[in-house]
Formats: sequence, C-alpha cells, structure tokens
Amino acid sequence: MESLYDELSAEQMLRIIFNYTTKIANERNLQRVLILMADMGREMIRADRCTVWIIDHSRGELFTRVAHGVEELRVPLGSGFVGHSIATGKPLLIENAAEDARHNEENDKLTGYLTRTVITVPFVGSDGQIIGAYQAVNKLAANGVFSRQDLEYLKLAASYAGKSLESVMLHEEIASTQRELILALGEIGENRSKETGYHVKRVAEYSYILALGLGFTQSEAEHLKMASPMHDIGKIAIPDSILQKPGKLTTKEYELMKTHTSIGYNMLGNSKRELLQSAAYIAHQHHEKWDGSGYPQGLKEQDIHLYGRITAVADVFDALGSDRVYKKAWELERIIALMKEERGRHFDPSVIDVFFAQLPSLLTIREQYRDKLPSPSELA
Ligand SMILES: [Fe+2]
Ligand SMILES: [Fe+2]
Repeated sequence: MESLYDELSAEQMLRIIFNYTTKIANERNLQRVLILMADMGREMIRADRCTVWIIDHSRGELFTRVAHGVEELRVPLGSGFVGHSIATGKPLLIENAAEDARHNEENDKLTGYLTRTVITVPFVGSDGQIIGAYQAVNKLAANGVFSRQDLEYLKLAASYAGKSLESVMLHEEIASTQRELILALGEIGENRSKETGYHVKRVAEYSYILALGLGFTQSEAEHLKMASPMHDIGKIAIPDSILQKPGKLTTKEYELMKTHTSIGYNMLGNSKRELLQSAAYIAHQHHEKWDGSGYPQGLKEQDIHLYGRITAVADVFDALGSDRVYKKAWELERIIALMKEERGRHFDPSVIDVFFAQLPSLLTIREQYRDKLPSPSELA
C-alpha cells in the first residue's frame, strides 16, 4: 500500500502537474491561483506546508493567501529564507533550519510550529523581474529532509505556474484600474447634480445583492456591480441650472433632464467592451417602469433589460433615503411603503420580492456607506 512517506512515481508526478496546471491556467482569481499553486508544490515534493509569496512593492512587503476566506498574510520584504531568495534571485535548500542565521526562530515560537527543512524558489516574470517565491517547509518523509530532487521539482512547478500567475496578476491590475475609473466616472455624473457621497457605491452594492438574490452567478453579479455606477453618466451634459435647481422643474426643464438616459447610452453604447455595453443599457433604461410609464422609451416589463430593472430598484431606494437639492431624505418606513406600493407599477415584482427578502443586507450596506455630514468649514 502507498504510504505517506513513499516518493512519488513519475506517473503520479505527471498527474499532479497536469491536474494543477490545467486548473491554474483556467483560473482568473489571484487568491485561488495562489492556493492552487501552493497545493501543487506541496503535493509534488510532499511538503508539510507550502506557500506562494508575492511581492507588494508599494508596501515593501510579501503577501500570500493560504486558504479561502482567510485574511491575507503579510511579512516584511527581506525577512526569512523566502526574503533571502527574493533578494538574491536564487533558490535555497536548507536541511537544518535551526543552524541557519536567516531562520526566524521568533516566528516558530509564536506559532508553535517547528521549521526543520526549507526550500525556497523565486518566480521570475517575463521582464526578468522577480515577482514572488515558493516556500516549502518540512518534508513528509522518513528522514524528514528535502533533497536536491525536491528542489528541482519545485523549480519545475515555479516555471509551469509562474506564467499563469503573472497573467492573473496583470488581469487583476487591469480589472481594478477599470473598477476605479468606472466609479470615478459614475461619481462625475452624480456630483454634477450634488448627489454627493456614497450614492454610486451604494447603488453598486445593492445591485449586487439583488442580482445574487435573483439567481445570478457570482461573476454575473460582479459584472452588474461594476456597470451600475455609470447609470447617471449622461448628467454630464445637463446644465447646472437644472441639476441644481432647488424647486420643481418646468416641463421643458424636465424634458431636458430626461435626456440624461439617451445621452449616457450614446456615450457608452459604441464600445465593444461587454462591461460598457451593459453600462449603456443601464444608463438608457434605469428610468423605465415595469408598467410602461417610464422614460425615455416607455418600455414595459421584460422589454426592459433586467440590469435596468435591478438598477431602478437600487437607485430609487437609495435616492429616497438621501438628501437632494429638491427634497429631504425620507424616513425608512416611508421608503419601504413606497417600494411595496410600486411593486408591479414602477418596479419588476420579482426584483421587489428579492428586495424584501434581502432587506437586512441592504440596510447593512446603507449603514456601512452612510454619507458623512459636511463639516462646519465645508458649510461655510
Ligand atoms: Fe438617472
Ligand atoms: Fe442615481
């Protein structure tokens, strides 16, 4: 029978490599890639622990995720064996950690874990820069020491998975830049009408919760969350005299105000990017009503894109609870009553049902992103 301490056969090794590299190549989430890579390394060389550390230059630290849902771990950039490997660009094979000056004994005392033998292997990005390193600790074998062979295997794991790791890191970088730009754009639309503070952020979070409640997958819901902040981007083209008018708008002014929907659509709709396409639908349709009495097209029921129906609920719920130039914030009870009343009129009944089912989480978001009151100096 196979024991824990047997060395792997070539076939077993190939199976592990094939299994993990396929999974890693298909993974777009950095956290999951780090965990998969660590698992691959651990299985290939039968280590007790294996960690993939990534350099965060902005903070002068290394970070990692060792398990799903667990906070990321951070250590100073130059510390320990892994820090040494990253600084020199060379792998390390340590047979007896206790005899090595680079070993951080304090850490062992703190965690109650005894580090005996260690391998570290740096990852090199395509531009030749080091982006992080593997660290494997303690061999699960009779003699308990890592061998040259183990080091070669971990180098192999690093070269197989390193490219995927780099591409996921680039992808995350692009995605987070995109997110920031979108929020900034959305805020421009809102700030023009003095809908200050976290309105855009809250609408995004509410849309996300509603989407999940309606059965969207996690990534579909995240897509909507990124697109919904742009719903009022067309307000960029509406004059201040209308956006900031404290009183009721004249018919002519109101007609002009309504064009922020088509303007937003025209701004975003030409993009080939799926995200901006979705944002274009939302900008166009977030004032449509389930019963067909909305604007600009007077669309009805399912003819309104589901993104538009969800954003409508999120936007109105939030707008009613906030002070605007033309009105004070409503009490929560009054808002809830209106949301109920407008089920099947303004709003899609199924979205409202989810709204009520998810009300506690929506209120948590509302509390979490509450607008700060302006300070006395800002009022002066
Ligand atoms: Fe709007
Ligand atoms: Fe809005």
